[in-house]
Amino acid sequence: MDSLLENLFFKEKKLKITFYGIGYVGLVQAAVLADAGHEVCCVDIDQDKIDKLKDGIIPIYEPGLSNLVQDNYNQGRLTFTTDAKQGVEFGQLQFIAVGTPPDEDGSADLKYVLKVAETIATYMTTNKVIINKSTVPVGTADKVTAKVKSILAQRKSHDSLLATHDSFTVVSNPEFLKEGSAVADCQKPDRIIIGTDSASAEELMRELYAPFNRNHEKIIVMDIRSAELTKYAANCMLATKISFMNEMANIAERVGADIEAVRHGIGSDPRIGYQFIYPGCGYGGSCFPKDVQALVRTTEAIGYESEILKAVEAVNYRQKTKLFEYISQHFGENLKGKVFAIWGLAFKPNTDDMREAPSRVLMEALWEAGATVQAYDPEAMEETQRIYGVNGDLALMGTKESALKNADALVICTEWKSFRAPDFDLIKTELKNALIFDGRNMFDPARMQEKGFKYYSIGRVVKTNGGYQ
Ligand SMILES: NC(=O)c1ccc[n+]([C@@H]2O[C@H](COP(=O)([O-])OP(=O)(O)OC[C@H]3O[C@@H](n4cnc5c(N)ncnc54)[C@H](O)[C@@H]3O)[C@@H](O)[C@H]2O)c1
Repeated sequence: MDSLLENLFFKEKKLKITFYGIGYVGLVQAAVLADAGHEVCCVDIDQDKIDKLKDGIIPIYEPGLSNLVQDNYNQGRLTFTTDAKQGVEFGQLQFIAVGTPPDEDGSADLKYVLKVAETIATYMTTNKVIINKSTVPVGTADKVTAKVKSILAQRKSHDSLLATHDSFTVVSNPEFLKEGSAVADCQKPDRIIIGTDSASAEELMRELYAPFNRNHEKIIVMDIRSAELTKYAANCMLATKISFMNEMANIAERVGADIEAVRHGIGSDPRIGYQFIYPGCGYGGSCFPKDVQALVRTTEAIGYESEILKAVEAVNYRQKTKLFEYISQHFGENLKGKVFAIWGLAFKPNTDDMREAPSRVLMEALWEAGATVQAYDPEAMEETQRIYGVNGDLALMGTKESALKNADALVICTEWKSFRAPDFDLIKTELKNALIFDGRNMFDPARMQEKGFKYYSIGRVVKTNGGYQ
């Protein structure tokens, strides 16, 4: 063990952990680690969020999260505070899980990460392992190290006692959870990436994750820069698969092919696989759009032109306008007086996250063209209300059925399970026209035609007498 950290570890059996940033990543990972027996202190600057958590109100929707948080809070393994000093004193392990949103130029904005680094350095009086769980560009661990060092140096110049209490190391431990199955992903991770050059930090991280590493070896240790890049590489690969399929869908509909048949045809090749090759109205969420963009900016900064990543971004941008394109093909550009029922607002099912959601691009285009929207989502209504406030052009409806009433068409933006087998007769009765624009290819076009619907979906055609329409 390196002497730097020697006196810190293994004095106590239980690990004490602090998380900064109690969002989709911080809250879930903190609750899962507490549930495994560790003691976790959660720090956020959002007073309202912390108050809610203390009152048993979970500020985000994630299956299984509510009980996990409440059980561990009641048993005292999970605590919530806005007092950063308390957080710094609490944990040997200091996890940074704050947001890294795009800066004005698209690169990852590190101000929240560096603010936490500053906070830790300001209050630490014992040795710490600082762990970057936020998605951060290559080189961020160096920036965090430099920030902590500079603050410690300032403190030392005022307080000579500090000289013996300033050992720290920075580890990269990117997160791979998926919103919608975040709890299960953290409980059974497919990999645990640890980027470090410190043997003792590695040992501590192994101890931390031991409860999740029993079935087979999931821990992959590497240098810090490779760990930082691994996260971007993973998200960019997944985004590439989606944009590739959307590109194929756009080709399919122009040449009279059915992208769903093509999807089955290629997915059966194990080198390709069935996962993540669904065509649709574009990817959204807090990760893919910003991470692809951030890696493009990184490549630009190092003088390398990433043609693939730029194309992935451009295809997705265009794909998000696809539903509006079909709608204006059908109705014309001026939609004044038209009403659209929208099913699904969240960027994907099983979450209430609306960040970069395709539904937002569609709604904003519809409003711009003079239309109004009646929308329903099983979980994202409150978030939609928060984003758009009181808006005469947007009615948030209590059920998927009520959203249909007297609308000119139904538009599907998110493939929630509850939309899979709707009452088509009711849809027809409630809508003014038997017309569906489906951004997630939920139904069979031939069946929809039989049922009397005009049905637009992504990359598919209805075969008629051997030809196509
Ligand atoms: N959401 C995902 O699915 C996901 C998956 C993997 C990785 N990530 C990455 O994890 C990071 C966090 O993402 P998220 O979706 O959880 O973000 P989020 O926006 O849900 O939560 C971030 C939280 O950090 C808090 N915060 C900001 N500054 C703070 C400070 N100085 N001290 C304490 N708290 C502070 C905010 O109030 C907020 O509650 C990002 O880098 C993201 O790219 C996200």
